[in-house]
Amino acid sequence: MGLLVVLLVCASLGAAQATAATAFGHAFKSKYFFIEPGLTPLNHGAFGATPRPVMQAQLAYMEKMEASCDAWFHQGLAFDLLNQTRHAVAAFVGSNVSNLVLVDNASAACNAALRSLKLGPTDIIMLLSWEYPLGVTVSDYVSQITGARIVTLNMSFPTDEDTIVAEFEAGLAKYRPRVAFFDAIASYPAFVMPTSRLVQLTRQYNAISIVDGAHAIGQIPLNLEELDPDFYFANGYKWLCSPKGSALLRVSPRMQAVTWPATINNGDPDFATRFWWTGTRDYSAWFAFLDTIEFRKQAGGEAAWTGYNNGLCTSVFELLSKRWNVSRAVPPSMTASLLTMPLPCGENNTRCPFAAFAVEAFMRQHDLQVVTLDFNGGKYVRFSCQVYNEISDYVRFADLLDEFFKQQEQQK
Ligand SMILES: Cc1ncc(COP(=O)(O)O)c(C=O)c1O
Repeated sequence: MGLLVVLLVCASLGAAQATAATAFGHAFKSKYFFIEPGLTPLNHGAFGATPRPVMQAQLAYMEKMEASCDAWFHQGLAFDLLNQTRHAVAAFVGSNVSNLVLVDNASAACNAALRSLKLGPTDIIMLLSWEYPLGVTVSDYVSQITGARIVTLNMSFPTDEDTIVAEFEAGLAKYRPRVAFFDAIASYPAFVMPTSRLVQLTRQYNAISIVDGAHAIGQIPLNLEELDPDFYFANGYKWLCSPKGSALLRVSPRMQAVTWPATINNGDPDFATRFWWTGTRDYSAWFAFLDTIEFRKQAGGEAAWTGYNNGLCTSVFELLSKRWNVSRAVPPSMTASLLTMPLPCGENNTRCPFAAFAVEAFMRQHDLQVVTLDFNGGKYVRFSCQVYNEISDYVRFADLLDEFFKQQEQQK
C-alpha cells in the first residue's frame, strides 16, 4: 500500500514540478487548466476549476481501483489513502484529524449537520438574509420535520464587521436560537465574514454553530481547532481547485456522537467510520486533495497563490472604482479573492432600470462568465480573482458594460 501512495503522489509530483517556471495569469491558465480558449472566466467561485496534473492524478486513483476492486475496497488500499488524505487536509485547515471527515460537497455536509440535530417545536434556527439557498432549503426541510422555527435576520448591506457582529448579537439576544447558521465567506453578495467573533457569540448564547465555509479553503487561512464551531464545512473544488466531489466537514467532539451522514450505510459508533463508508463509491476526488495540495506547493505555495488572487481583487477594485466612481460595499479587510462591487448605476439606480441579472446574461453572450446580483436595493457585480485571471479580464468586463449601457440607451 505504501508503494501505491508513493507512486501516485510521485506521478503527480512530476507534473507539478514544472509549474514553478510558469507565472500566474493567462499562460498559467492555458498550461494547467482545461478552460476553453476565448472564455473569460470571472466566476471561479461557483464551480472552481481543476489543474490538469490533479485531474491526471485523479484518473490514476480510478485506474488503481479498477485494476483490483477487491484490493482497493477490501484489502485496505483505499482505506490507507483515505487516512493519508484526512491527515493532509486536517493539517491544511488546522483540524485534529479525528474531528475531520471527507464528504462530496457542501450540500452533503450541511445535510449531515442540520439533519443530525434533535430539534423540536420550541427550537429556532437563525439564518442571515444573504444565506446561500442550501442553508435555507435544508433548514426549511428540518423545520417541516421537527416543527423548529426559522428566523432570518435582515442584514444591512453595504456593511462592515462591527455592523454584522452587532446585528448578529441582537438576533441571538432577541430569538435565543438553538442553532445559528452562517457563512465564513458569504456568496451573494460575497465577502469574508467575521467568523471567529460570530462563533464566540454563538457559544456565549448557548447555541449550536454551523459554519458554511464553502468558499473558505484555499481563499483564507483556517485554524479550525482554534475556531472550534460545532460544525464547519468547506468545498475543496472551489478555491483550493481540487476535483468536484471533494469537501470536508469538521465536527467538534461535542457533536460527534449524534452526527450522521445524510446517506447512512455504516452504523459504527465511530463518527469518522460512518462518514467513510456511505456505500460503494469512487473516492478519487477525495484522494486528489493530496495532489492538489502538492500542486499548489509546487506552483509557489499558499502565500503566493492567495497573495496573487487577493492582490488581483485589490487592483480590480482600485481600477474600476475610479472608472465607475463607486465606493466599497465592504472594507478591504472583508475582501479576499471574491470582490463585490456596486455597478455604476448612478443615484437611485437611474442608469439601471433592469435586474442586475441582465448584465450577467449580456456578458455570457460575449463568453464572459460573472455573477451579478440585486441585494437590499443595490446592484452589484461579483468578481472571482483566481491565478489564471489577469487585470485585462476585468477591463474587458468594464468595456462590455459600456457597450451594454449604450445598447440600453439606444433602446429607449
Ligand atoms: C456559501 C455556499 N454554500 C454552499 C454552496 C453549495 O455547494 P455545493 O454545491 O458544493 O454543495 C455554495 C455554492 O456556491 C455556496 O456558495
